[in-house]
Amino acid sequence: MPAQCEGEGKTPPAAERLPAGTVTVRPARPDDLPGLQEVARRTWRATYTGLIPDADIERFLERHYSLEELGRALERLGEGMLVAAVDDQVVGYATCGVNREGTGELFAIYVLPEWQRRGVGRRLWQRAIEHLRSLGLPEMVVWVLAANEPARRFYEHRGAALLGTRAFTVGETPLEEAGYVVRLAGR
Ligand SMILES: CC(C)(COP(=O)(O)OP(=O)(O)OC[C@H]1O[C@@H](n2cnc3c(N)ncnc32)[C@H](O)[C@@H]1OP(=O)(O)O)[C@@H](O)C(=O)NCCC(=O)NCCS
Repeated sequence: MPAQCEGEGKTPPAAERLPAGTVTVRPARPDDLPGLQEVARRTWRATYTGLIPDADIERFLERHYSLEELGRALERLGEGMLVAAVDDQVVGYATCGVNREGTGELFAIYVLPEWQRRGVGRRLWQRAIEHLRSLGLPEMVVWVLAANEPARRFYEHRGAALLGTRAFTVGETPLEEAGYVVRLAGR
Protein backbone atom coordinates (compact mmCIF):
# COMPACT_ATOMS: atom_id res chain seq x y z
CA MET A 1 0.00 0.00 0.00
CA PRO A 2 1.57 3.33 -0.99
CA ALA A 3 2.09 5.96 1.67
CA GLN A 4 -0.86 8.02 0.49
CA CYS A 5 -3.11 8.98 3.41
CA GLU A 6 -0.63 7.47 5.86
CA GLY A 7 -1.16 8.91 9.31
CA GLU A 8 -4.50 10.44 8.39
CA GLY A 9 -7.60 9.79 10.42
CA LYS A 10 -11.00 8.64 9.23
CA THR A 11 -13.39 10.93 7.40
CA PRO A 12 -14.91 13.34 9.95
CA PRO A 13 -18.64 12.70 10.43
CA ALA A 14 -19.53 16.29 9.45
CA ALA A 15 -17.82 15.87 6.08
CA GLU A 16 -19.47 12.49 5.54
CA ARG A 17 -22.89 14.05 5.90
CA LEU A 18 -22.25 16.63 3.20
CA PRO A 19 -23.53 15.53 -0.22
CA ALA A 20 -21.07 15.87 -3.12
CA GLY A 21 -23.32 18.57 -4.61
CA THR A 22 -22.16 21.04 -1.95
CA VAL A 23 -18.67 21.10 -3.48
CA THR A 24 -18.05 24.08 -5.76
CA VAL A 25 -15.18 24.00 -8.24
CA ARG A 26 -14.14 27.47 -9.40
CA PRO A 27 -11.11 29.65 -10.15
CA ALA A 28 -9.17 30.56 -7.00
CA ARG A 29 -9.48 34.01 -5.43
CA PRO A 30 -6.73 35.69 -3.38
CA ASP A 31 -8.63 34.95 -0.16
CA ASP A 32 -8.56 31.20 -0.98
CA LEU A 33 -4.77 31.06 -0.81
CA PRO A 34 -4.38 30.32 2.94
CA GLY A 35 -6.88 27.46 2.57
CA LEU A 36 -5.15 26.18 -0.53
CA GLN A 37 -1.83 26.30 1.32
CA GLU A 38 -3.32 24.20 4.12
CA VAL A 39 -4.68 21.63 1.65
CA ALA A 40 -1.25 21.43 0.02
CA ARG A 41 0.55 20.93 3.34
CA ARG A 42 -1.77 18.23 4.63
CA THR A 43 -2.19 16.39 1.35
CA TRP A 44 1.48 16.51 0.40
CA ARG A 45 2.49 15.03 3.76
CA ALA A 46 -0.21 12.37 3.56
CA THR A 47 0.68 11.45 -0.03
CA TYR A 48 4.46 11.54 -0.05
CA THR A 49 5.56 10.48 3.45
CA GLY A 50 7.52 7.30 2.87
CA LEU A 51 8.04 8.07 -0.83
CA ILE A 52 10.02 11.33 -0.48
CA PRO A 53 12.20 12.20 2.56
CA ASP A 54 10.31 14.35 5.08
CA ALA A 55 12.87 17.17 4.90
CA ASP A 56 12.44 17.42 1.13
CA ILE A 57 8.65 17.52 1.46
CA GLU A 58 8.91 20.38 3.96
CA ARG A 59 11.46 22.26 1.85
CA PHE A 60 9.26 21.97 -1.22
CA LEU A 61 6.22 23.22 0.68
CA GLU A 62 8.14 26.17 2.12
CA ARG A 63 9.54 27.11 -1.26
CA HIS A 64 6.55 26.59 -3.53
CA TYR A 65 3.60 27.00 -1.21
CA SER A 66 4.41 30.19 0.68
CA LEU A 67 1.57 32.72 0.42
CA GLU A 68 3.87 34.96 -1.64
CA GLU A 69 4.62 32.18 -4.12
CA LEU A 70 0.95 31.21 -4.31
CA GLY A 71 0.04 34.84 -5.01
CA ARG A 72 2.54 34.91 -7.88
CA ALA A 73 1.17 31.61 -9.20
CA LEU A 74 -2.38 32.99 -9.11
CA GLU A 75 -1.30 36.03 -11.14
CA ARG A 76 0.56 33.83 -13.61
CA LEU A 77 -2.06 31.09 -14.01
CA GLY A 78 -5.24 33.15 -13.66
CA GLU A 79 -8.22 30.83 -14.16
CA GLY A 80 -5.78 27.91 -14.35
CA MET A 81 -5.64 27.94 -10.56
CA LEU A 82 -8.76 26.11 -9.39
CA VAL A 83 -10.17 25.31 -6.00
CA ALA A 84 -12.84 22.91 -4.80
CA ALA A 85 -14.64 24.55 -1.90
CA VAL A 86 -17.31 23.54 0.60
CA ASP A 87 -18.91 26.56 2.25
CA ASP A 88 -15.79 28.55 1.32
CA GLN A 89 -13.47 25.99 2.92
CA VAL A 90 -10.94 24.81 0.35
CA VAL A 91 -10.89 20.99 0.20
CA GLY A 92 -8.92 20.57 -3.03
CA TYR A 93 -7.10 22.46 -5.75
CA ALA A 94 -5.61 22.04 -9.19
CA THR A 95 -3.23 24.19 -11.21
CA CYS A 96 -2.84 24.06 -14.97
CA GLY A 97 -1.49 26.15 -17.82
CA VAL A 98 1.08 26.18 -20.59
CA ASN A 99 4.41 24.57 -19.71
CA ARG A 100 7.90 25.57 -20.97
CA GLU A 101 7.45 23.41 -24.07
CA GLY A 102 4.23 25.23 -24.95
CA THR A 103 2.06 22.23 -24.07
CA GLY A 104 -0.97 22.26 -21.79
CA GLU A 105 -0.10 20.74 -18.45
CA LEU A 106 -1.89 19.85 -15.24
CA PHE A 107 0.78 20.98 -12.78
CA ALA A 108 -0.92 19.82 -9.59
CA ILE A 109 -4.12 18.23 -8.33
CA TYR A 110 -4.62 17.63 -4.62
CA VAL A 111 -7.70 16.78 -2.59
CA LEU A 112 -7.71 16.61 1.22
CA PRO A 113 -7.44 12.96 2.35
CA GLU A 114 -10.91 12.93 3.93
CA TRP A 115 -12.41 14.27 0.69
CA GLN A 116 -10.73 11.82 -1.65
CA ARG A 117 -12.72 9.22 -3.63
CA ARG A 118 -15.84 11.37 -3.50
CA GLY A 119 -15.74 12.93 -6.97
CA VAL A 120 -13.85 16.13 -6.12
CA GLY A 121 -10.74 15.23 -8.14
CA ARG A 122 -12.84 14.32 -11.15
CA ARG A 123 -14.47 17.75 -11.11
CA LEU A 124 -11.15 19.56 -10.74
CA TRP A 125 -9.74 17.48 -13.60
CA GLN A 126 -12.70 18.30 -15.83
CA ARG A 127 -12.48 22.01 -15.06
CA ALA A 128 -8.73 22.01 -15.82
CA ILE A 129 -9.44 20.39 -19.17
CA GLU A 130 -12.08 23.00 -19.95
CA HIS A 131 -9.63 25.79 -19.09
CA LEU A 132 -6.83 24.40 -21.27
CA ARG A 133 -9.28 23.77 -24.06
CA SER A 134 -10.44 27.40 -23.83
CA LEU A 135 -6.80 28.38 -24.44
CA GLY A 136 -6.91 26.36 -27.67
CA LEU A 137 -4.50 23.69 -26.44
CA PRO A 138 -4.78 20.29 -28.14
CA GLU A 139 -3.56 18.16 -25.25
CA MET A 140 -2.85 18.08 -21.53
CA VAL A 141 0.11 16.30 -19.99
CA VAL A 142 0.51 15.43 -16.33
CA TRP A 143 3.55 14.10 -14.51
CA VAL A 144 3.21 11.97 -11.42
CA LEU A 145 5.68 10.33 -9.07
CA ALA A 146 5.95 6.83 -10.55
CA ALA A 147 5.46 5.26 -7.11
CA ASN A 148 2.21 7.20 -6.57
CA GLU A 149 -0.01 4.30 -7.65
CA PRO A 150 -3.38 5.74 -6.53
CA ALA A 151 -2.86 8.93 -8.54
CA ARG A 152 -1.74 6.89 -11.55
CA ARG A 153 -4.92 4.83 -11.32
CA PHE A 154 -6.95 8.05 -11.14
CA TYR A 155 -5.29 9.37 -14.34
CA GLU A 156 -5.70 6.05 -16.13
CA HIS A 157 -9.32 5.97 -15.03
CA ARG A 158 -9.74 9.38 -16.66
CA GLY A 159 -8.48 8.00 -19.97
CA ALA A 160 -4.95 9.41 -19.85
CA ALA A 161 -2.35 7.50 -21.89
CA LEU A 162 1.10 6.73 -20.52
CA LEU A 163 3.82 8.72 -22.32
CA GLY A 164 6.79 7.26 -20.49
CA THR A 165 8.93 7.78 -17.42
CA ARG A 166 11.85 10.06 -16.61
CA ALA A 167 14.24 10.61 -13.74
CA PHE A 168 14.22 13.71 -11.56
CA THR A 169 15.50 14.70 -8.14
CA VAL A 170 13.84 16.27 -5.12
CA GLY A 171 16.59 17.69 -2.97
CA GLU A 172 19.22 14.95 -3.04
CA THR A 173 16.78 12.12 -3.66
CA PRO A 174 16.67 10.53 -7.13
CA LEU A 175 13.12 9.68 -8.14
CA GLU A 176 11.17 8.60 -11.17
CA GLU A 177 8.06 10.22 -12.60
CA ALA A 178 5.55 8.95 -15.12
CA GLY A 179 4.00 11.20 -17.75
CA TYR A 180 0.47 10.89 -19.09
CA VAL A 181 -1.30 12.70 -21.91
CA VAL A 182 -4.93 13.42 -22.67
CA ARG A 183 -6.16 14.68 -26.04
CA LEU A 184 -8.33 17.77 -25.62
CA ALA A 185 -9.28 18.52 -29.19
CA GLY A 186 -12.55 16.99 -30.32
CA ARG A 187 -13.50 15.59 -26.89
C1 LIG B 1 -5.57 11.78 -7.11
C2 LIG B 1 -6.71 12.63 -6.57
C3 LIG B 1 -6.54 14.08 -6.99
C4 LIG B 1 -8.04 12.08 -7.12
O1 LIG B 1 -9.08 12.85 -6.59
P1 LIG B 1 -10.33 12.13 -5.88
O2 LIG B 1 -11.26 13.20 -5.46
O3 LIG B 1 -9.81 11.23 -4.82
O4 LIG B 1 -10.90 11.26 -7.07
P2 LIG B 1 -12.42 11.08 -7.48
O5 LIG B 1 -13.21 10.69 -6.27
O6 LIG B 1 -12.89 12.29 -8.21
O7 LIG B 1 -12.30 9.85 -8.46
C5 LIG B 1 -12.57 9.98 -9.81
C6 LIG B 1 -12.54 8.62 -10.44
O8 LIG B 1 -11.23 8.07 -10.33
C7 LIG B 1 -11.29 6.85 -9.61
N1 LIG B 1 -10.20 6.82 -8.66
C8 LIG B 1 -9.81 7.82 -7.84
N2 LIG B 1 -8.79 7.41 -7.08
C9 LIG B 1 -8.56 6.13 -7.44
C10 LIG B 1 -7.67 5.15 -6.98
N3 LIG B 1 -6.81 5.38 -5.99
N4 LIG B 1 -7.71 3.94 -7.57
C11 LIG B 1 -8.60 3.67 -8.54
N5 LIG B 1 -9.49 4.55 -9.00
C12 LIG B 1 -9.46 5.76 -8.45
C13 LIG B 1 -12.59 6.86 -8.86
O9 LIG B 1 -13.08 5.55 -8.71
C14 LIG B 1 -13.50 7.67 -9.77
O10 LIG B 1 -14.05 6.88 -10.76
P3 LIG B 1 -15.37 7.34 -11.59
O11 LIG B 1 -14.98 8.55 -12.40
O12 LIG B 1 -15.69 6.14 -12.44
O13 LIG B 1 -16.41 7.63 -10.57
C15 LIG B 1 -6.78 12.57 -5.02
O14 LIG B 1 -7.04 11.24 -4.63
C16 LIG B 1 -5.56 13.09 -4.33
O15 LIG B 1 -5.48 14.28 -4.00
N6 LIG B 1 -4.59 12.20 -4.05
C17 LIG B 1 -3.42 12.57 -3.29
C18 LIG B 1 -2.58 13.60 -4.00
C19 LIG B 1 -2.04 13.12 -5.31
O16 LIG B 1 -1.53 12.03 -5.44
N7 LIG B 1 -2.17 14.00 -6.31
C20 LIG B 1 -1.66 13.76 -7.63
C21 LIG B 1 -0.25 14.22 -7.69
S1 LIG B 1 0.42 14.07 -9.33
